Amino acid sequence: MMSRITLTRPDDWHLHLRDGAAMADAVVHSARVFGRAIVMPNLKPPVVTTDDARAYRSRILAALPSGTTFEPLMTLYLTDRTPVAEIRRAVDSGVVQGVKLYPAGATTNSDAGVTSIARVGEPLAVMAELGLPLLVHGEVTDPDIDLFDREAVFLERVLAPLVEAHPRLKIVMEHVTTAEAVAFVESARDGVVATITPHHLLMNRNAIFEGGIRPHRYCLPVLKRERHRLALVAAATSGKSRFFLGTDSAPHTVETKEASCGCAGIFSAHAALELYAQIFEAEGALDRLQAFASFFGADFYGLQRNTDSITLVRNPWRVPSAYRFGEGSVSPLAAGDTVMWQVEEIDTH
Ligand code: NCD
Ligand code: ZN
Repeated sequence: MMSRITLTRPDDWHLHLRDGAAMADAVVHSARVFGRAIVMPNLKPPVVTTDDARAYRSRILAALPSGTTFEPLMTLYLTDRTPVAEIRRAVDSGVVQGVKLYPAGATTNSDAGVTSIARVGEPLAVMAELGLPLLVHGEVTDPDIDLFDREAVFLERVLAPLVEAHPRLKIVMEHVTTAEAVAFVESARDGVVATITPHHLLMNRNAIFEGGIRPHRYCLPVLKRERHRLALVAAATSGKSRFFLGTDSAPHTVETKEASCGCAGIFSAHAALELYAQIFEAEGALDRLQAFASFFGADFYGLQRNTDSITLVRNPWRVPSAYRFGEGSVSPLAAGDTVMWQVEEIDTH
């Protein structure tokens, strides 16, 4: 049994850091482990311009504890009215690494999202030309579609035509949750990839109702059946470069989740890498963790791999029931559970 493992420092290719006073409490967990993160733009109001992204980036850097190295990679929030000129500005800025497509109403703070792909053809064409990736929240919002089918229907109705209409567009299907999405990405043309979260690898939908309703296990896309979880585990540990790490760590206060209408989002940054390690180990695939966590994402985005390294040691620890989050607290993924791996050190060189 291995007791230590040293990896090139990983990056998180899908992260919510929020804003304002609570942001410092979120980013500290990510900066503890990850070298860089793709930061989601679903603030209120959303990050729609390069100037917004630059300002948000400065606020994140200002919230970092001194001595930590962490680079926020910024994204723009695509709307029906995103001008082509904004895409060009984003690429020229050097700070924006992707544009996020939220179908309007699909998830937390997505009201300003895209109402129809037909409306964003021009910005997508320019993104394809300039090599700026489109990051997709892959769920339809049609109320006639069963909540658990929203991702599979999105693949057919939206993603397949989109992949064809823009044959050179780089596309990340974010936080895939179904066997159908895994199969789609595996057989898609080059330039179509997916991120996978720790919670979708660890839990199936029964977890939401274990002994009662568990609001802290509610996220979007919602957890699916066991057969889907198994497909995700197989994809993540396959060594295929199309699948890489994106936590979708999305903190909400305990108050806003434990409510009559609770928010969607699971906070995992406190233990994400450690939990991925646990999953890979259970599959006998620890030797593939580094590529999933530290290589494939950087390669897809056309960025240098990190040069620093991180060491995990086998040292079981118990996840606290809550972490501070602004004025309130956040209930983390795997609260109260024992995690087998612990970060020993980051070696910056
Ligand atoms: C995210 C959030 O809270 O911002 N929630 C979630 O359930 N994943 C939004 C998102 O990524 O869908
Ligand atoms: Zn997200």
